[in-house]
Amino acid sequence: MGIIYDETGRVFKLDTPHTSYMMGIADEEGFLGHIYYGKRISSCDVSYLLRIQEPPFVPSKNNGDRISFLDAFPMEYPTHGIGDFREAALRIRTQGGHKACALTYVSHRIYEGKKKLPGLPASFAGEGECETLEIVCRDKSLGLEAVLSYSVFEDSDVTARHVEIRNQGGEKLWLEKVSSMSLDMDNRDFEALTLHGSWARECHRQTGRLGNGFRGIASRRGMSGHQDHPFMALVTEHTTQERGEVYGVQLMYSGSYEILADVSQHNTVRWQAGLESQDFCWELNPGESFCAPEALLIYSDRGLDGMTADFHDFIREHVIRGKYKNRKRPVLINNWEATYFDFNTEKLLSIAKEAAGLGIEMLVMDDGWFGHRSRADSSLGDWYVNEEKLPGGLPRLVEEVNRLGLKFGIWFEPEMISPESELYRKHPDWAIAVPGRTPSMAREQLVLDFSRPEVVEGIWEQMEAVLKSANIEYVKWDMNRPLCDLGSAALPPQRQGELLHRYMLGVYELQERLVTRFPDILLENCASGGGRYDAGMLYYSPQIWCSDDTDAIERLAIQEGTAMLYPLSTMGAHVSDCPNHTIGRTTPFETRGYVALAGTFGYELDVTRIPETDREQIPGQIALYHKYNDLVREGDYYRISSAAQSCGCDCWQVVSKDKKESMVTVIQVLCAPGNRTRILHLKGLDPEKRYRIDGEDTLIKGDSLMYAGLPVPAMKGDFAGKVMHLVAENDKTK
Ligand code: GLA
Repeated sequence: MGIIYDETGRVFKLDTPHTSYMMGIADEEGFLGHIYYGKRISSCDVSYLLRIQEPPFVPSKNNGDRISFLDAFPMEYPTHGIGDFREAALRIRTQGGHKACALTYVSHRIYEGKKKLPGLPASFAGEGECETLEIVCRDKSLGLEAVLSYSVFEDSDVTARHVEIRNQGGEKLWLEKVSSMSLDMDNRDFEALTLHGSWARECHRQTGRLGNGFRGIASRRGMSGHQDHPFMALVTEHTTQERGEVYGVQLMYSGSYEILADVSQHNTVRWQAGLESQDFCWELNPGESFCAPEALLIYSDRGLDGMTADFHDFIREHVIRGKYKNRKRPVLINNWEATYFDFNTEKLLSIAKEAAGLGIEMLVMDDGWFGHRSRADSSLGDWYVNEEKLPGGLPRLVEEVNRLGLKFGIWFEPEMISPESELYRKHPDWAIAVPGRTPSMAREQLVLDFSRPEVVEGIWEQMEAVLKSANIEYVKWDMNRPLCDLGSAALPPQRQGELLHRYMLGVYELQERLVTRFPDILLENCASGGGRYDAGMLYYSPQIWCSDDTDAIERLAIQEGTAMLYPLSTMGAHVSDCPNHTIGRTTPFETRGYVALAGTFGYELDVTRIPETDREQIPGQIALYHKYNDLVREGDYYRISSAAQSCGCDCWQVVSKDKKESMVTVIQVLCAPGNRTRILHLKGLDPEKRYRIDGEDTLIKGDSLMYAGLPVPAMKGDFAGKVMHLVAENDKTK
């Protein structure tokens, strides 16, 4: 790790263990240009990549052709309106209605550590683990400054970037677009890889070649969304899991965003990630500043496996906080698919009693415990216990559950309001809406205006009272509809464009309060499954419910996509009943268990009513969870094969950091997968170590298992699966 500034060449160089990132100050005018990002190089001698000697010309030498220069120069943080006609990272509007802005270098500083971002999630590091470069660029006529920050970490190839915009001029102006990062590179026939999906079909991998023009993804929903993760990778042609070059970016943000690649006439690619700009407009008065969310950048020359490994380690070390950061999570049973809204204390206790006997460790009471909620059409916002369902309230229920030996968890949907609620009757203006227009409903609910501090405060008071009333050890924070009909009763007309971002700041504020005030509570985020699964949310909750689709086979692709970016320790995965409630398929209980073991693990069923043959398997599944969870949470994850691509065989592997132990899961989606023993090429093992598989006598060397492969005979039955345990010789501790 290291950041240097070479004064002679006026070049910045940021090194991570395996990558270098370089920028340079071009000519006397001082435009900041991007020079290089990629595999680590040892010197600063590549500033020729700025190409300022070749036509089009340097503006200070040939002001007659300034536009050619600006439209070809690799700008580090491009602006709008001065002759760079490609996509701008920053777009502003002055009181006079003008948009031109030119940023040039003013100063920089390099310091140890990394600042927190005001009100926003951000990566962090311990002392001596991280270094930051801040470059101040300025538009002289507006007095507008952009402070570009870059942090590099001792133990990671991720570079964290963010931008702060300061109005140092004498007049107010409006920010119409603020990207968190922009990167200009020569196009090398890049393909864009994204994670596309929908409700109950999250995170499917999608790849397409960049052509001239735009390719991008965005969320305009006020949440990062089921449709596309705030992530894009640019990969060289024929990139695979193991080979190829990968540039990846994740935005640490949970609201509306946009990520795009713009290929120019000169075959350069401009790559950007930041806040969605269509609904955004931020008034910036003199003396004020605006901080854009953080972007996490990675370069890997080891294919997708390299990107995944770096993101996993980085999120585990530098994003996730709190008591459960490095801890095993309790095996939970959630009553949603067991009872939906139809439950009472008696029913919950019958589930808890049965669950306790089987080794389950926590009961989570889902939607339906508050106000008068017996259907989806009422009571969101009325966060007090429905004593008709739960006589004696939470204290009695939780005491009884604890007496049975289980912890207790509870569901909230804090950002929502039902028109049929006491809260709405009292504060109709707390809902997001446009005056004079009936807002669109979704799931019979409206969204609370979390841009208003009094709304956040009002919900917090109610939540705090509930959480203080009993021994609650887990919260599931749900969010079940996107934002539209954007209007805040508290914002003046010229500030309505701030609503979406201010809303997110309100959400983050409330989550921060929750984790600070109740540090022992395990928080799990959820948004109709994986509708808000992003690195921003992981700063508050160490786990996220990955999908409402709990079908073991549908989950293979969903979990494969999710695990491409986020550690397995974050991935909410449960065993549910069959036929599956979302898609109607029946899969073996055993297979459902193997698939859920790849995540946080738990149950989502009525354990008093499932077939005896299934129930009998639960203690065995929980034993597997305890056996493997350290490995799953802390180990290196590898994708071995994907059901979609390899004749119906899905296989993933986790290897302990010391390479002494590994877990291999195989799920066979087709009944007749070629009718032969399949050879699976394992990864990440120590080539010199000899591994014993599932306690068998035979030992196989790591290099054989990786290069020659592990034989896995075809399994009998629909959707059969298995988990194999590899332990290195002489390691008898496991
Ligand atoms: C969402 C969640 C589910 C469940 C329901 C309750 O759909 O994803 O897990 O909590 O809400 O309404």
